[in-house]
Amino acid sequence: MSTATETTTRERVRVYATGSCEGFDKLRESLASHPEIELVGASTNVADGAAALAGGHLDAILHATRAASLPADELAAIREHTRAPILMLASGGSSGLLEQALDADVADVLLLPQLVENIVFAIRKSTHTTRRHHDAGGGRHGKIVTVFSPKGGTGKTVTATNLAAACAKFEGRKTLLLDLDLQFGDAAIMLGIEPEKTIYDLVVAPGELDAEKLAGYTTKHACGLEVLPAPLRPEDAELVTEAKLGRLLEVAREAFDVIVVDTSPFFHGPMLATLDRTDELLLLCSLDVPTLKNLRLALQTLDLLSFPKQRVRIVLNRSNSKVGMKPNEVEGALGMKVRFEVPSDRAVPLSVNRGNPVVLSEESADVSKAIKAMAKELFPVIKEEGKKRRLLPTLARS
Ligand SMILES: Nc1ncnc2c1ncn2[C@@H]1O[C@H](COP(=O)(O)OP(=O)(O)O)[C@@H](O)[C@H]1O
Ligand SMILES: [Mg+2]
Repeated sequence: MSTATETTTRERVRVYATGSCEGFDKLRESLASHPEIELVGASTNVADGAAALAGGHLDAILHATRAASLPADELAAIREHTRAPILMLASGGSSGLLEQALDADVADVLLLPQLVENIVFAIRKSTHTTRRHHDAGGGRHGKIVTVFSPKGGTGKTVTATNLAAACAKFEGRKTLLLDLDLQFGDAAIMLGIEPEKTIYDLVVAPGELDAEKLAGYTTKHACGLEVLPAPLRPEDAELVTEAKLGRLLEVAREAFDVIVVDTSPFFHGPMLATLDRTDELLLLCSLDVPTLKNLRLALQTLDLLSFPKQRVRIVLNRSNSKVGMKPNEVEGALGMKVRFEVPSDRAVPLSVNRGNPVVLSEESADVSKAIKAMAKELFPVIKEEGKKRRLLPTLARS
Protein backbone atom coordinates (compact mmCIF):
# COMPACT_ATOMS: atom_id res chain seq x y z
CA MET A 1 0.00 0.00 0.00
CA SER A 2 1.39 3.38 -0.94
CA THR A 3 1.92 6.15 1.55
CA ALA A 4 -0.31 8.43 -0.48
CA THR A 5 -3.26 6.03 -0.12
CA GLU A 6 -2.65 5.76 3.61
CA THR A 7 -2.71 9.50 4.04
CA THR A 8 -5.91 9.98 2.10
CA THR A 9 -7.77 7.22 3.93
CA ARG A 10 -6.62 8.28 7.40
CA GLU A 11 -9.33 9.37 9.79
CA ARG A 12 -8.77 12.69 11.45
CA VAL A 13 -7.66 12.46 15.06
CA ARG A 14 -10.07 14.08 17.52
CA VAL A 15 -8.06 16.20 19.93
CA TYR A 16 -8.97 18.42 22.86
CA ALA A 17 -6.51 21.08 24.03
CA THR A 18 -6.38 22.35 27.58
CA GLY A 19 -4.10 24.37 29.88
CA SER A 20 -1.56 26.96 28.77
CA CYS A 21 2.13 27.51 28.24
CA GLU A 22 4.43 29.65 26.13
CA GLY A 23 3.80 28.94 22.44
CA PHE A 24 0.64 26.89 23.03
CA ASP A 25 -1.70 29.47 21.45
CA LYS A 26 0.28 29.41 18.24
CA LEU A 27 0.39 25.63 18.19
CA ARG A 28 -3.38 25.42 18.71
CA GLU A 29 -3.94 27.65 15.72
CA SER A 30 -1.73 25.48 13.55
CA LEU A 31 -3.45 22.31 14.74
CA ALA A 32 -6.90 23.78 14.10
CA SER A 33 -6.08 24.08 10.42
CA HIS A 34 -4.13 20.82 10.13
CA PRO A 35 -5.84 18.32 7.81
CA GLU A 36 -5.14 15.30 10.05
CA ILE A 37 -6.43 16.89 13.24
CA GLU A 38 -9.92 17.72 14.37
CA LEU A 39 -9.55 20.13 17.24
CA VAL A 40 -12.88 19.50 18.95
CA GLY A 41 -12.38 22.11 21.65
CA ALA A 42 -9.94 24.06 23.74
CA SER A 43 -9.94 25.68 27.15
CA THR A 44 -7.12 27.26 29.11
CA ASN A 45 -8.85 26.54 32.41
CA VAL A 46 -8.25 22.88 33.18
CA ALA A 47 -11.42 22.42 35.24
CA ASP A 48 -13.61 23.91 32.47
CA GLY A 49 -11.69 21.98 29.88
CA ALA A 50 -12.11 18.72 31.77
CA ALA A 51 -15.85 19.31 32.16
CA ALA A 52 -16.13 20.03 28.44
CA LEU A 53 -14.61 16.67 27.56
CA ALA A 54 -18.21 15.60 27.43
CA GLY A 55 -20.08 13.49 24.96
CA GLY A 56 -18.18 12.77 21.80
CA HIS A 57 -15.29 10.42 21.53
CA LEU A 58 -11.77 11.86 21.88
CA ASP A 59 -8.56 10.32 20.59
CA ALA A 60 -6.06 12.43 22.51
CA ILE A 61 -5.74 15.31 24.98
CA LEU A 62 -3.07 17.97 24.71
CA HIS A 63 -2.44 19.45 28.11
CA ALA A 64 -0.10 22.41 28.39
CA THR A 65 1.37 23.42 31.71
CA ARG A 66 3.52 26.18 33.13
CA ALA A 67 4.21 24.18 36.30
CA ALA A 68 7.74 23.05 37.05
CA SER A 69 6.54 19.80 38.59
CA LEU A 70 3.82 17.37 37.59
CA PRO A 71 0.33 18.95 37.85
CA ALA A 72 -1.25 15.80 39.31
CA ASP A 73 -4.55 17.53 40.18
CA GLU A 74 -4.99 18.71 36.62
CA LEU A 75 -4.29 15.26 35.23
CA ALA A 76 -6.77 13.74 37.69
CA ALA A 77 -9.41 16.28 36.57
CA ILE A 78 -8.90 15.20 32.97
CA ARG A 79 -8.93 11.50 33.86
CA GLU A 80 -12.33 11.89 35.50
CA HIS A 81 -13.72 12.35 32.02
CA THR A 82 -11.63 10.42 29.56
CA ARG A 83 -9.15 7.59 29.12
CA ALA A 84 -7.75 9.14 25.94
CA PRO A 85 -3.94 9.45 25.94
CA ILE A 86 -2.69 12.70 27.45
CA LEU A 87 0.26 14.49 25.85
CA MET A 88 1.81 17.13 28.07
CA LEU A 89 3.29 20.27 26.60
CA ALA A 90 5.60 22.68 28.34
CA SER A 91 7.88 25.42 27.17
CA GLY A 92 11.64 24.72 27.16
CA GLY A 93 13.56 24.17 30.34
CA SER A 94 10.84 22.23 32.23
CA SER A 95 12.71 18.99 31.73
CA GLY A 96 12.22 18.04 35.41
CA LEU A 97 8.66 17.37 34.36
CA LEU A 98 9.66 14.67 31.92
CA GLU A 99 10.49 11.83 34.29
CA GLN A 100 7.60 12.51 36.64
CA ALA A 101 5.17 12.67 33.74
CA LEU A 102 6.37 9.48 32.10
CA ASP A 103 6.04 7.69 35.44
CA ALA A 104 2.49 8.99 35.64
CA ASP A 105 -0.31 8.24 33.27
CA VAL A 106 0.98 10.50 30.49
CA ALA A 107 1.63 9.27 26.96
CA ASP A 108 4.31 11.81 26.04
CA VAL A 109 5.91 15.09 27.05
CA LEU A 110 6.83 17.62 24.37
CA LEU A 111 8.76 20.82 24.89
CA LEU A 112 7.70 23.85 22.81
CA PRO A 113 8.49 25.30 20.36
CA GLN A 114 8.15 22.36 18.00
CA LEU A 115 7.27 21.91 14.37
CA VAL A 116 3.57 21.23 14.14
CA GLU A 117 4.29 18.05 12.16
CA ASN A 118 6.27 16.69 15.12
CA ILE A 119 3.32 17.28 17.40
CA VAL A 120 0.91 15.63 14.96
CA PHE A 121 3.27 12.65 14.73
CA ALA A 122 3.40 12.36 18.54
CA ILE A 123 -0.40 12.54 18.77
CA ARG A 124 -0.80 9.79 16.16
CA LYS A 125 1.81 7.65 17.91
CA SER A 126 0.06 7.99 21.26
CA THR A 127 -3.36 7.00 19.89
CA HIS A 128 -1.84 4.03 18.10
CA THR A 129 0.00 2.79 21.18
CA THR A 130 -3.09 3.15 23.36
CA ARG A 131 -5.21 1.21 20.88
CA ARG A 132 -2.62 -1.56 20.75
CA HIS A 133 -2.53 -1.82 24.53
CA HIS A 134 -6.30 -2.06 24.61
CA ASP A 135 -6.33 -4.79 21.99
CA ALA A 136 -3.47 -6.80 23.43
CA GLY A 137 -4.10 -6.25 27.11
CA GLY A 138 -7.05 -8.62 27.25
CA GLY A 139 -9.17 -5.48 27.60
CA ARG A 140 -12.62 -6.25 26.26
CA HIS A 141 -14.37 -4.04 23.82
CA GLY A 142 -17.96 -4.74 24.72
CA LYS A 143 -20.78 -4.16 22.32
CA ILE A 144 -23.26 -1.45 23.25
CA VAL A 145 -26.83 -2.28 22.29
CA THR A 146 -29.32 0.50 22.82
CA VAL A 147 -33.04 -0.23 22.92
CA PHE A 148 -35.03 2.82 21.87
CA SER A 149 -38.46 3.90 20.73
CA PRO A 150 -39.90 7.41 20.55
CA LYS A 151 -43.08 6.11 22.16
CA GLY A 152 -43.70 4.85 25.69
CA GLY A 153 -45.18 1.41 26.24
CA THR A 154 -43.79 -0.16 23.06
CA GLY A 155 -41.86 -2.76 25.04
CA LYS A 156 -38.39 -1.21 25.42
CA THR A 157 -37.93 -2.35 28.98
CA VAL A 158 -39.38 -5.81 28.32
CA THR A 159 -37.00 -6.20 25.36
CA ALA A 160 -33.95 -4.74 27.11
CA THR A 161 -34.34 -6.83 30.28
CA ASN A 162 -35.06 -10.07 28.43
CA LEU A 163 -32.34 -9.56 25.84
CA ALA A 164 -29.79 -8.82 28.57
CA ALA A 165 -30.92 -11.82 30.62
CA ALA A 166 -30.71 -14.05 27.52
CA CYS A 167 -27.19 -12.83 26.74
CA ALA A 168 -26.01 -13.53 30.26
CA LYS A 169 -27.73 -16.89 30.73
CA PHE A 170 -27.86 -18.52 27.30
CA GLU A 171 -24.99 -16.88 25.44
CA GLY A 172 -22.66 -16.89 28.45
CA ARG A 173 -21.69 -13.24 27.88
CA LYS A 174 -20.57 -10.92 30.62
CA THR A 175 -23.51 -8.56 30.37
CA LEU A 176 -24.47 -5.23 31.90
CA LEU A 177 -27.97 -3.78 31.74
CA LEU A 178 -27.90 -0.03 32.06
CA ASP A 179 -31.20 1.70 32.79
CA LEU A 180 -31.13 5.10 31.11
CA ASP A 181 -34.83 5.75 31.54
CA LEU A 182 -33.38 8.06 34.15
CA GLN A 183 -36.61 9.45 35.59
CA PHE A 184 -38.93 6.47 35.55
CA GLY A 185 -36.70 3.49 34.98
CA ASP A 186 -38.27 0.16 35.81
CA ALA A 187 -35.68 -2.35 34.63
CA ALA A 188 -34.82 -3.35 38.21
CA ILE A 189 -38.49 -3.97 39.04
CA MET A 190 -38.98 -6.10 35.93
CA LEU A 191 -35.98 -8.17 37.01
CA GLY A 192 -37.29 -8.45 40.56
CA ILE A 193 -34.17 -7.01 42.12
CA GLU A 194 -33.92 -4.48 44.92
CA PRO A 195 -30.69 -2.65 44.24
CA GLU A 196 -28.80 -0.90 47.00
CA LYS A 197 -27.09 1.42 44.56
CA THR A 198 -28.07 3.11 41.32
CA ILE A 199 -26.40 5.08 38.55
CA TYR A 200 -27.04 8.19 40.67
CA ASP A 201 -24.80 6.89 43.48
CA LEU A 202 -22.13 6.08 40.92
CA VAL A 203 -22.06 9.51 39.28
CA VAL A 204 -22.02 11.47 42.55
CA ALA A 205 -19.25 9.32 44.08
CA PRO A 206 -15.90 11.15 44.19
CA GLY A 207 -12.83 10.02 42.26
CA GLU A 208 -12.12 8.57 38.89
CA LEU A 209 -14.38 5.87 37.49
CA ASP A 210 -12.76 2.56 36.58
CA ALA A 211 -13.96 -1.01 36.16
CA GLU A 212 -13.38 -1.86 39.81
CA LYS A 213 -15.43 1.09 40.97
CA LEU A 214 -18.21 0.28 38.52
CA ALA A 215 -18.36 -3.26 39.91
CA GLY A 216 -19.12 -1.79 43.34
CA TYR A 217 -22.30 -0.17 42.06
CA THR A 218 -23.92 -2.88 39.95
CA THR A 219 -26.36 -5.48 41.29
CA LYS A 220 -26.16 -9.09 40.15
CA HIS A 221 -29.26 -10.94 39.00
CA ALA A 222 -29.49 -14.70 39.57
CA CYS A 223 -29.02 -15.31 35.81
CA GLY A 224 -25.57 -13.70 35.95
CA LEU A 225 -26.60 -10.34 34.53
CA GLU A 226 -25.21 -7.21 36.19
CA VAL A 227 -27.63 -4.29 36.47
CA LEU A 228 -27.01 -0.58 36.96
CA PRO A 229 -30.48 0.77 37.72
CA ALA A 230 -31.94 4.23 37.15
CA PRO A 231 -31.95 6.75 40.03
CA LEU A 232 -34.64 6.10 42.64
CA ARG A 233 -35.88 9.71 42.52
CA PRO A 234 -36.77 11.41 39.21
CA GLU A 235 -35.10 14.67 40.33
CA ASP A 236 -31.72 12.90 40.55
CA ALA A 237 -31.77 12.13 36.83
CA GLU A 238 -30.18 15.43 35.84
CA LEU A 239 -26.98 14.59 37.70
CA VAL A 240 -26.31 11.88 35.14
CA THR A 241 -24.62 14.23 32.70
CA GLU A 242 -23.39 13.45 29.22
CA ALA A 243 -19.79 13.60 30.40
CA LYS A 244 -20.36 11.16 33.27
CA LEU A 245 -22.30 8.82 31.07
CA GLY A 246 -19.72 8.93 28.30
CA ARG A 247 -17.03 7.88 30.74
CA LEU A 248 -19.29 5.22 32.26
CA LEU A 249 -19.89 3.63 28.86
CA GLU A 250 -16.17 3.65 28.04
CA VAL A 251 -15.40 1.87 31.31
CA ALA A 252 -18.31 -0.55 30.89
CA ARG A 253 -16.96 -1.45 27.46
CA GLU A 254 -13.67 -2.52 28.95
CA ALA A 255 -15.34 -4.63 31.63
CA PHE A 256 -18.26 -6.29 29.81
CA ASP A 257 -18.88 -8.22 26.57
CA VAL A 258 -22.30 -6.71 26.14
CA ILE A 259 -23.94 -3.55 27.49
CA VAL A 260 -27.68 -3.37 26.93
CA VAL A 261 -29.08 0.13 27.42
CA ASP A 262 -32.76 0.68 28.19
CA THR A 263 -33.93 4.22 27.40
CA SER A 264 -36.73 6.76 27.71
CA PRO A 265 -38.55 8.02 24.60
CA PHE A 266 -36.42 11.18 24.29
CA PHE A 267 -33.27 12.35 22.53
CA HIS A 268 -31.80 14.07 25.60
CA GLY A 269 -28.12 14.66 26.35
CA PRO A 270 -27.39 11.26 27.93
CA MET A 271 -29.15 9.56 25.03
CA LEU A 272 -26.96 11.44 22.53
CA ALA A 273 -23.84 10.45 24.47
CA THR A 274 -25.08 6.85 24.32
CA LEU A 275 -25.80 7.01 20.59
CA ASP A 276 -22.24 8.18 20.04
CA ARG A 277 -21.06 4.85 21.37
CA THR A 278 -23.89 2.57 20.25
CA ASP A 279 -22.96 -0.42 18.10
CA GLU A 280 -26.50 -1.71 17.58
CA LEU A 281 -29.59 0.44 17.92
CA LEU A 282 -32.74 -1.60 18.35
CA LEU A 283 -35.66 0.61 17.32
CA LEU A 284 -38.86 -0.77 18.76
CA CYS A 285 -41.99 -0.57 16.73
CA SER A 286 -45.52 -1.85 17.14
CA LEU A 287 -48.43 -2.23 14.78
CA ASP A 288 -50.05 1.13 15.38
CA VAL A 289 -50.10 4.29 13.35
CA PRO A 290 -48.93 6.82 16.00
CA THR A 291 -45.88 4.70 16.82
CA LEU A 292 -45.04 4.39 13.13
CA LYS A 293 -45.35 8.13 12.63
CA ASN A 294 -43.03 8.82 15.58
CA LEU A 295 -40.60 6.19 14.44
CA ARG A 296 -40.31 7.86 11.06
CA LEU A 297 -39.51 11.12 12.83
CA ALA A 298 -36.98 9.34 15.01
CA LEU A 299 -35.28 7.91 11.91
CA GLN A 300 -35.05 11.42 10.48
CA THR A 301 -33.51 12.70 13.72
CA LEU A 302 -30.99 9.87 13.68
CA ASP A 303 -30.13 10.86 10.14
CA LEU A 304 -29.57 14.48 11.21
CA LEU A 305 -27.35 13.21 14.01
CA SER A 306 -25.37 11.25 11.38
CA PHE A 307 -26.08 8.01 13.19
CA PRO A 308 -24.96 5.22 10.79
CA LYS A 309 -28.05 3.59 9.30
CA GLN A 310 -26.41 0.17 9.16
CA ARG A 311 -26.42 0.09 12.95
CA VAL A 312 -30.20 0.45 13.15
CA ARG A 313 -32.34 -2.68 13.57
CA ILE A 314 -36.10 -2.43 13.54
CA VAL A 315 -37.75 -4.70 16.10
CA LEU A 316 -41.47 -5.27 15.67
CA ASN A 317 -42.97 -6.03 19.05
CA ARG A 318 -46.35 -7.76 19.44
CA SER A 319 -45.88 -8.70 15.77
CA ASN A 320 -48.80 -11.14 15.76
CA SER A 321 -51.41 -8.69 17.06
CA LYS A 322 -54.56 -8.67 14.94
CA VAL A 323 -54.96 -4.93 14.59
CA GLY A 324 -55.49 -4.43 10.88
CA MET A 325 -51.85 -3.79 10.01
CA LYS A 326 -49.24 -6.18 8.64
CA PRO A 327 -45.47 -6.26 9.23
CA ASN A 328 -44.83 -5.50 5.54
CA GLU A 329 -46.87 -2.30 5.88
CA VAL A 330 -44.47 -1.27 8.67
CA GLU A 331 -41.55 -1.88 6.33
CA GLY A 332 -43.20 0.17 3.63
CA ALA A 333 -43.88 3.07 5.97
CA LEU A 334 -40.36 3.09 7.43
CA GLY A 335 -38.48 2.25 4.27
CA MET A 336 -36.53 -0.33 6.28
CA LYS A 337 -36.67 -4.06 6.83
CA VAL A 338 -37.99 -5.43 10.10
CA ARG A 339 -35.02 -7.35 11.50
CA PHE A 340 -36.66 -9.03 14.48
CA GLU A 341 -40.24 -9.91 15.29
CA VAL A 342 -41.34 -10.52 18.86
CA PRO A 343 -44.84 -11.93 19.28
CA SER A 344 -47.38 -10.79 21.83
CA ASP A 345 -47.79 -13.21 24.70
CA ARG A 346 -49.80 -13.14 27.90
CA ALA A 347 -46.73 -14.61 29.59
CA VAL A 348 -45.04 -11.19 29.22
CA PRO A 349 -47.32 -9.11 31.50
CA LEU A 350 -47.42 -12.06 33.90
CA SER A 351 -43.62 -12.17 34.05
CA VAL A 352 -43.45 -8.37 34.41
CA ASN A 353 -45.74 -8.50 37.42
CA ARG A 354 -43.76 -11.32 38.97
CA GLY A 355 -40.46 -9.57 38.37
CA ASN A 356 -39.02 -12.51 36.46
CA PRO A 357 -38.07 -12.09 32.78
CA VAL A 358 -40.08 -14.31 30.48
CA VAL A 359 -36.95 -15.76 28.82
CA LEU A 360 -36.09 -17.24 32.22
CA SER A 361 -39.56 -18.16 33.48
CA GLU A 362 -41.05 -19.51 30.22
CA GLU A 363 -38.06 -20.59 28.21
CA SER A 364 -40.07 -22.34 25.52
CA ALA A 365 -42.69 -19.64 24.94
CA ASP A 366 -42.55 -18.17 21.40
CA VAL A 367 -41.75 -14.74 22.78
CA SER A 368 -38.76 -16.19 24.68
CA LYS A 369 -37.54 -18.07 21.61
CA ALA A 370 -37.73 -14.84 19.59
CA ILE A 371 -35.67 -12.89 22.12
CA LYS A 372 -33.13 -15.70 22.55
CA ALA A 373 -32.72 -15.86 18.77
CA MET A 374 -32.18 -12.09 18.76
CA ALA A 375 -29.43 -12.45 21.37
CA LYS A 376 -27.75 -15.16 19.31
CA GLU A 377 -27.87 -13.14 16.13
CA LEU A 378 -26.65 -9.91 17.72
CA PHE A 379 -23.74 -11.60 19.47
CA PRO A 380 -22.47 -14.32 17.17
CA VAL A 381 -20.06 -16.69 18.82
CA ILE A 382 -16.44 -16.14 17.80
CA LYS A 383 -15.05 -19.31 16.15
CA GLU A 384 -12.26 -20.37 18.51
CA GLU A 385 -14.23 -19.60 21.63
CA GLY A 386 -17.42 -20.90 20.13
CA LYS A 387 -17.44 -24.40 21.47
CA LYS A 388 -16.56 -23.39 25.00
CA ARG A 389 -19.09 -20.58 25.11
CA ARG A 390 -21.91 -22.63 23.66
CA LEU A 391 -21.19 -25.58 25.93
CA LEU A 392 -21.07 -23.77 29.20
CA PRO A 393 -24.63 -22.46 29.33
CA THR A 394 -25.95 -25.76 27.95
CA LEU A 395 -24.19 -27.74 30.68
CA ALA A 396 -25.37 -25.31 33.29
CA ARG A 397 -28.95 -26.01 32.36
CA SER A 398 -28.78 -29.79 32.04
N1 LIG B 1 -44.44 -8.95 23.44
C1 LIG B 1 -45.29 -8.57 24.39
N2 LIG B 1 -46.39 -9.31 24.68
C2 LIG B 1 -47.27 -8.93 25.62
N3 LIG B 1 -47.14 -7.82 26.36
C3 LIG B 1 -46.07 -7.05 26.14
C4 LIG B 1 -45.08 -7.37 25.14
N4 LIG B 1 -44.14 -6.40 25.16
C5 LIG B 1 -44.50 -5.51 26.11
N5 LIG B 1 -45.66 -5.89 26.71
C6 LIG B 1 -46.39 -5.20 27.78
O1 LIG B 1 -46.36 -3.82 27.55
C7 LIG B 1 -46.06 -3.13 28.74
C8 LIG B 1 -45.13 -1.98 28.39
O2 LIG B 1 -43.87 -2.49 28.06
P1 LIG B 1 -42.54 -1.75 28.50
O3 LIG B 1 -41.42 -2.65 28.16
O4 LIG B 1 -42.64 -1.28 29.90
O5 LIG B 1 -42.59 -0.51 27.51
P2 LIG B 1 -41.60 0.76 27.42
O6 LIG B 1 -40.39 0.43 28.22
O7 LIG B 1 -41.34 0.92 25.97
O8 LIG B 1 -42.38 1.91 27.99
C9 LIG B 1 -45.42 -4.11 29.68
O9 LIG B 1 -45.90 -4.01 30.98
C10 LIG B 1 -45.72 -5.48 29.11
O10 LIG B 1 -46.61 -6.17 29.95
MG1 LIG C 1 -39.52 1.43 29.86
